[in-house]
Amino acid sequence: MIFDLEDVASAWELDPEFIHLNHGSFGAVPTVVLAEQHTWQKRMHTNPSAYFRRDVFPAIADARRAVSQFLGAGDDGLGFVRNSTEAINTVLSSHRLQPGDEILIFDQEYQAVTMAVGRAARLAGAQVIEIAVSLHESDVQILEQVRSRITSRTRMLVFDHITSATARIMPVAQLVNLCREQSIVSVVDASHVPGVLDPRISELKPDYWFGNLHKWLCAPVAAGVLYVAPEHRESFQPLITSWFDALGFPTAQDMLGTVDYSAWLCAPRAIEFFGEFGFDRVRAANNARAVYGQQVVAQALGLDADALRDYGLPMTLVPLERTGDHEAAGAMSAHIALTHGIEAAITDFGGQLFIRISGQLYNRAEDYHALAAALVRTREL
Ligand SMILES: Cc1ncc(COP(=O)(O)O)c(C=O)c1O
Repeated sequence: MIFDLEDVASAWELDPEFIHLNHGSFGAVPTVVLAEQHTWQKRMHTNPSAYFRRDVFPAIADARRAVSQFLGAGDDGLGFVRNSTEAINTVLSSHRLQPGDEILIFDQEYQAVTMAVGRAARLAGAQVIEIAVSLHESDVQILEQVRSRITSRTRMLVFDHITSATARIMPVAQLVNLCREQSIVSVVDASHVPGVLDPRISELKPDYWFGNLHKWLCAPVAAGVLYVAPEHRESFQPLITSWFDALGFPTAQDMLGTVDYSAWLCAPRAIEFFGEFGFDRVRAANNARAVYGQQVVAQALGLDADALRDYGLPMTLVPLERTGDHEAAGAMSAHIALTHGIEAAITDFGGQLFIRISGQLYNRAEDYHALAAALVRTREL
């Protein structure tokens, strides 16, 4: 099996000691983007005063506008954050919950985000209502579930566009519309979206939306974005108060004091890197890899094809016949890495373990066959 764009694999310099099948967790940076990052870091270290006093902030503003345009948020819809974890904490500290408020969240939400929501609710005297969504629940059922949990106290819905542990697409437009109809604040965790889907944020009109650029867009680690709807911009408060505070959203987000800003600055180079091939083509090429991997693994494990779904993403899921929690998933990932030399994402949801299979341009068919063999061996343990 030869995939489209296989010749692009050499654009990454990944550790050859391992097979890399977990792009979804932390991304991986192409050499040209890394070179750009090194150039910025060198400028910072060879003349810190020029970098911090004159050069970096105009460059950040340019990079921010380029990313904002790319994600369909106009010129000034997006501010930079370092990652999704920072984004949700920013939203929750700026848009304060009140005693008695109810905040809805799915049980499939990324658990660190759930923890941030839980803490904000505890501090405010608000209540988190967790909505259980079964693995292959339909969009209609999901919307019905949300509708049935809305009360006069519901203030906010926090949900993934693409779920982390289960790699599925949620009905984002319908959920945002439902929130608008019911005067509920919508917070979209779109961590996996940049570089995969075209979110057209200004048309979607969420209240808050955030995503990582260091996952599928392959910007360096610590590049994320946060969208704030126009009606919340005046009252918006950054998590970190610094020199640009009075400038408001999004400029206030540009200033974190003296830190390495190179990841943000390289985001336009990452957009350019994939833009050369075309994002639709890259998405199809990566989806073909992930689906191939899913089939190879399912076949090796003797699993029923009914248990498999393809959402057209660069990640697919295969249920493993194993129970376990987050810790067990981590232990199994570590075992596969250290015993078989494969970086793979074992995820957990509802007490069950899954393998979440990523496809990126650097993956070849043999990577998935190696994963399947490793999983068969691991099952025998
Ligand atoms: C859906 C989702 N939300 C939030 C995060 C947190 O991202 P980060 O660790 O970059 O803050 C992730 C990371 O995998 C994720 O998949």
